[in-house]
Amino acid sequence: MSAPTTRAKGPDMRVNVAGVELRSPVIAASGTFGYGVEFEDIISIDRIGAFVTKGLSREPMAGNPTPRIIETPAGMINAIGLQNMGVKAFIAEKLPKILKIKGAVIIANVFGFTIEDCIEVIHALNDAPGIAMYELNASCPNTSHGGMVFGTNHELLFDLASRCRAVSKRPLMVKLSPNVTSIGLMARVAADAGADAVSLVNTFLALAIDVETRRPRIANVTGGLSGPAIKPIAVRMVNEVSRAVRIPIVGMGGIVRAEDAVEFMLAGATAVQVGTASYADPRAVENIATDLRKWCASHDIAHVSELTGAAIL
Ligand SMILES: Cc1cc2nc3c(=O)[nH]c(=O)nc-3n(C[C@H](O)[C@H](O)[C@H](O)COP(=O)(O)O)c2cc1C
Repeated sequence: MSAPTTRAKGPDMRVNVAGVELRSPVIAASGTFGYGVEFEDIISIDRIGAFVTKGLSREPMAGNPTPRIIETPAGMINAIGLQNMGVKAFIAEKLPKILKIKGAVIIANVFGFTIEDCIEVIHALNDAPGIAMYELNASCPNTSHGGMVFGTNHELLFDLASRCRAVSKRPLMVKLSPNVTSIGLMARVAADAGADAVSLVNTFLALAIDVETRRPRIANVTGGLSGPAIKPIAVRMVNEVSRAVRIPIVGMGGIVRAEDAVEFMLAGATAVQVGTASYADPRAVENIATDLRKWCASHDIAHVSELTGAAIL
């Protein structure tokens, strides 16, 4: 009689964010992964945890004038201005295609100029099939109203998050602005308002000036800084938030390799998002998910969630 075959099982990479089980903690970040379908032929979407759509608004938005993206040392500044096709077109044109992608877990990013706008977007998405969770963008630095204004005023943030939570039929993750004095306080406001999870960080308000023309290098004048340049600040903020709230934290800011994801998880994140790295390498999210599994295997981590909050600080 032959001995029973034992198949070496790899580390368990599943994590649970607000009741949504993800097969990996590595998620593609909003605004850097289109509506997901654009990446269907580039990566295996069933090897990443989930992807977040570009921010969806009530009406289509053309975004800001160009130039609206520049490279900086170890990062980039963008002021896209939330260009998007609008929630109705997303549901009619993109969602049916996304739903055909094997293993796609969709997080819809919601944006509005007013609380009523956000509520309308959520109402529209509530009736659409196949979306796992909403990420409420309370933190875009590139619009003159809404966006970051919500995320930097604790009364407005409470109002926005609680009213959106009340109408949301799916878990609601509130995306926090790093452009505040105390991100722990803002996370607590979001949690008190009923948020099921928080994600952070969005981009840091930034300015770059062309020294020859003395003009801003971004047409919008200011933009949002992302990429490796912001990572240590983002990791500190995730840790601060982990001490302030008990809801799950999704951390991001400058993740380009598996070890960066580990660092965010040790600081307190349950899952992570990868944004700017996809501009340098469209396969970055999948590669980081694969490498994170290998990292766990080589460090005797049986379950990736063991890493969450395990930093010795
Ligand atoms: C070009 C660009 C567009 C973005 N658009 C959105 C967006 O629509 N909604 C949103 O919540 N965040 C948006 N972000 C922010 C990212 O999702 C992420 O929070 C930020 O870039 C930090 O992560 P990273 O350093 O890995 O890029 C955008 C970022 C970039 C670079």
